[in-house]
Amino acid sequence: VAVSARNRGKDRGVSLDNFAWFDSAETMAREAGADAFVELIGGSDGIAKAACEQALDHKCHVVTANKALIAVHGAALAAQAEAAKLALNFEAAVAGGIPIIKALKEGLAANTFKSVTGILNGTCNYILTTMRETGRDFQDVLDEAQKLGYAEADPTFDIDGIDAAHKLAILASMAFGTPIDFDAVPVEGIRHVSALDISLAETLGYKIKLLGHARLVDGAVEARVQPYMVPLNVPISNVEGVYNAVTVEGDFVGRSSYEGRGAGEGPTASAVVADLIDIAAGRITPPLGMPVAQMAAKPLQPVDGHTGAYYTRCTVQDCPGVLADVAAILRDHGVSIEAVRQENSVENADVPLVLILHETQEKNVRAALTDIEKLPAVKDTPRLIRIMTAAD
Ligand SMILES: NC(=O)c1ccc[n+]([C@@H]2O[C@H](COP(=O)([O-])OP(=O)(O)OC[C@H]3O[C@@H](n4cnc5c(N)ncnc54)[C@H](OP(=O)(O)O)[C@@H]3O)[C@@H](O)[C@H]2O)c1
Repeated sequence: VAVSARNRGKDRGVSLDNFAWFDSAETMAREAGADAFVELIGGSDGIAKAACEQALDHKCHVVTANKALIAVHGAALAAQAEAAKLALNFEAAVAGGIPIIKALKEGLAANTFKSVTGILNGTCNYILTTMRETGRDFQDVLDEAQKLGYAEADPTFDIDGIDAAHKLAILASMAFGTPIDFDAVPVEGIRHVSALDISLAETLGYKIKLLGHARLVDGAVEARVQPYMVPLNVPISNVEGVYNAVTVEGDFVGRSSYEGRGAGEGPTASAVVADLIDIAAGRITPPLGMPVAQMAAKPLQPVDGHTGAYYTRCTVQDCPGVLADVAAILRDHGVSIEAVRQENSVENADVPLVLILHETQEKNVRAALTDIEKLPAVKDTPRLIRIMTAAD
């Protein structure tokens, strides 16, 4: 019916001659007289949000690929859509080539979910995969990914985990039937993952993956995005390159996993058009799976409260007593060591010291690492990476 974009003269590879042109997407949403409004602008606020609100106000279904918008304003927009008996469909917003929104809302609707875990950002997965395969460092691989078009000119949203956190907030909110405060989700990206950590991980039987992971713990939601050591026998560890994967655990279905391309024009268009087909067929369901009024607020568990196993690495001067000093600090914080690995030991040289820690509270590990960094023989800030366990 109508089109709006920033630049009217841009060649888009298709003729727009037969469609009305609107300089303002908001005016278009209000005045085009369409049945559905498709928002592919982006951003949690501004024109994208205003245009979607206008569309819903004017009896127009909405399809969007905008994860930031849904992660931040999903509950309010869903309530608006429900009140007007309209669709607000956003399959493309989360792992476009994987129909995970539909799976949660429909195929797995009988389940109460315990956890949702995903490789939710193809750029990060491509970078980590290439680092592992080539032994190259993060910045080098990021530069190449930008040249190949796998990373944006400004890659911050991807590599700092924000894009994955938007998607996790949406998935967790749907899986656990609770609005998620996106700003409260702890997020750590992949900037600090080194080629050394990746190669050490492999020798220890893990791959490092940026995961969005959320689970229910004693009625609270634990949700975070961060690099994980994923055991090689866990299927998600084999999802490589730009591919995404999501595993959900439901009480009836158990673990159920999905893999596919997360972004790019093909998978995104596939999801957007599937959403339009649902609207055309009259399949209008509550946008977040259950009516917003039936969602119950669950608290977010603070990151420090997590209990799990950890990998930690720091560079130490290889002199007598260092390991004993490190072990004593860990002991004083109630943290016990499962395995130690010291690479290429040459007396008085700086060498990486790797410790695998038994399951313990994260706050204790962090406090211990703060003290370990103060030891004169410790030459850099210890890195901490969570190890994925059966409980995850
Ligand atoms: N790229 C992907 O693979 C992918 C995958 C899943 C979801 N998404 C989501 O899709 C959205 C767009 O991402 P993208 O990568 O396609 O970004 P993009 O390439 O920058 O495209 C944004 C589009 O919005 C138009 N636009 C910008 N400001 C506008 C305004 N004020 N009024 C009307 N139109 C405006 C632009 O017009 P011009 O063309 O004239 O500049 C452009 O067509 C984001 O929410 C993103 O998260 C993208």
